Amino acid sequence: MGRRKLVAGNWKMNGMKSHLAEIEAIGRIAAERPGVEVGIFLPATLIMAAAEGKGGAFIGAQDCHMNVNGAHTGCLSADMLAEAGAEYVIVGHSERREDQGESNADVAAKALAARTAGLKVILCVGESLDVRDAGNAEAVVCEQLLASLPEGAAADWLAIAYEPIWAIGTGRIPTMDAVASMHAALRAALASRIGAQESDAMRILYGGSMNGDNAAELMAIPDVDGGLVGGASLTAAKFGPVIAAAG
Ligand code: 13P
Repeated sequence: MGRRKLVAGNWKMNGMKSHLAEIEAIGRIAAERPGVEVGIFLPATLIMAAAEGKGGAFIGAQDCHMNVNGAHTGCLSADMLAEAGAEYVIVGHSERREDQGESNADVAAKALAARTAGLKVILCVGESLDVRDAGNAEAVVCEQLLASLPEGAAADWLAIAYEPIWAIGTGRIPTMDAVASMHAALRAALASRIGAQESDAMRILYGGSMNGDNAAELMAIPDVDGGLVGGASLTAAKFGPVIAAAG
């Protein structure tokens, strides 16, 4: 085991130059917690400037194209993001799967493109409320994970984020038992594909209404190796307690 906790803030479509001071404040908090890996996933427009004042945090991007270059108006390649100063990228967030119609195959291809560019990856999976209510969330999410998993998946460049869609931005979270059970199921699914040793080393984050009040309990679950945090990552005052809860 010995998985280092990863606490990642996903700023989504939030953040202007006026927020660079907030990013620097998060970087200072991260520097005080070397036992925790802290990242801020920013709109691409802020990556280059934020990378200069990132302190103890790393800067990440929220998506990349699966191709290296070409006629894809408005898109950004993993190489471009790496050159701008990103060290990680999120792929397969439910908001992109829904808004941009990204398939599991697209997500796997993006993860591979990111790795080729030298970026690390957080790959997101999670169920809708209908699936949760129907009682088969674990089977559906494990299937989604295996269908999205890139070739060569390994713990030194890939982490998984379990984000129940109905928990994102709603203030609702699953029970601790449900989170524990899902994360254990995901680790077993990973083991079936990449082997127990690699699966044991791979971090599985929880995301969806994580905040300073619930982070410690969530991250105390043995298979929860950190968090992917939206709203509560937008200020140092809110994100600091989440980082502190990770150790
Ligand atoms: P919230 O923390 O705002 O629920 O968002 C979670 C999320 O989608 C992170 O990627």
